[in-house]
Amino acid sequence: MTNRILPTLTLLLISLFAHAGGGMWLPLLLENLNEEEMQAMGMEITAEDIYSINEGSLKDAIVHFGGFCTGEVVSDQGLVLTNHHCGFGAIQDHSTLENNYLQDGFWAMDGSEELPNPGLFVTFIVSIDDVTSQILAGVTDQMSEKERARTIQANTTALKLGGELGAFEEVLVKPFYEGNRYYAFRTKTYNDVRLVGAPPSSIGKFGADTDNWEWPRHTGDFSLFRIYTAPDGSPADYDEANVPMRPKRHLEVSTAGIDPGDFSMIFGFPGTTEQYLPAVAMEQRTEIINPIRIGMRDLSLAVIDSAMRADEQIRIDYASKQARIANAWKKWRGESQGVEAVGAVAHRRQMERDFAERLAAKPSAQEKYGALIPELNRLYTDRLELEKTRAYVGELNYNIDLFRLANILDAQFAIADNNGMDAFRQRSERLLTYLQGIYDGYSPAVDKKVARALLPEYYEKLPSQYQAAYALDQREFAGGYDELIDDLFDRSYLTRGDRVLDMLAADPEAFVETIRADRAFQFVRQLNRLNESRVVDVYNEYADRINGLQRTYMDGLLRFFPERRLYPDANGTLRVSYGKFEGFTGLEGNTYDYMTYLDGVMEKYVPGDYEFDVPERLIELHEERDYGPYATEVGKMPVCLLGSNHTTGGNSGSPALNGKGQLVGLNFDRTWQSTMSDVYYDPTICRNIMVDIRYILFLIDKFGQAPHLVEEMTLIN
Ligand code: ARG
Ligand code: GLU
Repeated sequence: MTNRILPTLTLLLISLFAHAGGGMWLPLLLENLNEEEMQAMGMEITAEDIYSINEGSLKDAIVHFGGFCTGEVVSDQGLVLTNHHCGFGAIQDHSTLENNYLQDGFWAMDGSEELPNPGLFVTFIVSIDDVTSQILAGVTDQMSEKERARTIQANTTALKLGGELGAFEEVLVKPFYEGNRYYAFRTKTYNDVRLVGAPPSSIGKFGADTDNWEWPRHTGDFSLFRIYTAPDGSPADYDEANVPMRPKRHLEVSTAGIDPGDFSMIFGFPGTTEQYLPAVAMEQRTEIINPIRIGMRDLSLAVIDSAMRADEQIRIDYASKQARIANAWKKWRGESQGVEAVGAVAHRRQMERDFAERLAAKPSAQEKYGALIPELNRLYTDRLELEKTRAYVGELNYNIDLFRLANILDAQFAIADNNGMDAFRQRSERLLTYLQGIYDGYSPAVDKKVARALLPEYYEKLPSQYQAAYALDQREFAGGYDELIDDLFDRSYLTRGDRVLDMLAADPEAFVETIRADRAFQFVRQLNRLNESRVVDVYNEYADRINGLQRTYMDGLLRFFPERRLYPDANGTLRVSYGKFEGFTGLEGNTYDYMTYLDGVMEKYVPGDYEFDVPERLIELHEERDYGPYATEVGKMPVCLLGSNHTTGGNSGSPALNGKGQLVGLNFDRTWQSTMSDVYYDPTICRNIMVDIRYILFLIDKFGQAPHLVEEMTLIN
């Protein structure tokens, strides 16, 4: 027996070590913390090749795309690659019934066809510096959270004033490790970013919601943009005379393919993670708060889905709203399932016991850290009802467009109150465009059904002390939910977009007055005002105290566990994750391969289906196996890849790099239960999903017939 178990155990230990447990690392710390391990895992370049302030390094090819995704420069002409779902808004803006780029795809055949996108920008990171001592100068443990925040604010302002900045440059100072360290990011932003290419949605969004957060995956989720600069090469706002950027660095593209077990690295801008939540908070999030939000969205999605099935126009109008609501809905379900399946809460409790044990060995540290965990437990527990209320009210405001509109207007009217009517009038043009966007495709009938489904939850599931007396009165007064909702929707201007827009355009002052007296506006405002005073304000007081304790806890973790490399939570700054290209064994015991192929697209193909249709031309190319130089050695066309890189929202569009630092894929998703990695990374099942770069090249060259775009790139075989 033993001789059979032993090798297995050793293997297990080796693989546990090799997985290393996730992490989103700061590029400037790789040399000290990660380089050795990365090279042991197969990386052939150095930390200095990834991030250097002196030489051009890989980081000079990475951009924060529009502030919400990642992109990378792939040619010396400023060509940028990102996801289709990241470029979606831009592609949609340029789409009309005659030129429907969402449906048909878009390929600029030369510079003159590249399409400008007002408001879209990309940001490069020039340098990163540890500024902890400057930012925390004068901060003491005795300070209140408010005093601390004031001191930090003053130090940050002083630091920013101290440096000289060029046009379109900025310095961002961000807290790391719950505010125990601070790093400054010097950035350079380019505002002229033009659309160059995108496959049809039937490729770029193939599988849509059914396949979202799933593996095996077959989505060609990419689009192409180009950065333009002033003729002298400096960043500039859009101008016809602008020229394609000559970047400091662009990524090489490898067409050599990858094998399972090969080193992989993701370089991008992950948004938010909460890796150091105490067990009590993780349990609340995954067992109570996620289910509340999921339940609310079950209700609104049921309404929206059936309306979309019944009416072609609604299907078009509600497509992106539905995708937005469903994306997080599905993510939360996966996260809760994953956390439960691997017992993450129990692991976290164990970590807290380890913490207590190490602390016990350091009597002098008792005073500072001794009461932490019990105190965090108490605060999170006491705050739970507030957290639940926030979830319910948050979902009302998010899902019901009438609520969303009322809240936006309420915030805008505050400007009129604080800065005068002139200030409001000045902004009314912008507000008009913004409201137009919301009313475009707005269906009061669908929205009313969403409200009918969600509003009773507010009344019936919430502790009564958090319900607005006003809202209760209104229901009493109306006689029931149907009557209340009829009343809100039928007697409000806000459900009539034309009237609202006309009024605002004609006379902003009268507009403010009329809407303020509006039935639905009043209702939403009263409900949210009460929520602010009884819930949000108290919640924020808890948050201040919790944040202070989390900071001390993090400080303790860093101190007592020097042997564990603890990585800072994602906060929208540039990070490196690394792992391997590899499949996994799912929670249900099935084993999944690390790569999918075009054959799999054809297996999923459902003619005419809105999720699984396939363009004619792709079917032909597949039938003829006409893959150009992009197929694998055995003549198959790879589509998606799987890897054990720790990623999150914001990593969409991040380059997947091989051991030589060459582009081999484009990150765009995670497997379902992997989404638990936002609170707990489990190396055995957490996997990120990428498009294989060879599929992208094939789609540009053979499908889009835009080989000039591939020729711009630096291909290495
Ligand atoms: N799940 C991916 C990411 O969060 C892709 C989202 C876009 N696709 C969709 N069907 N909504 O955010
Ligand atoms: N699709 C996500 C995004 O838009 C990335 C996937 C994830 O959350 O891992 O950033």
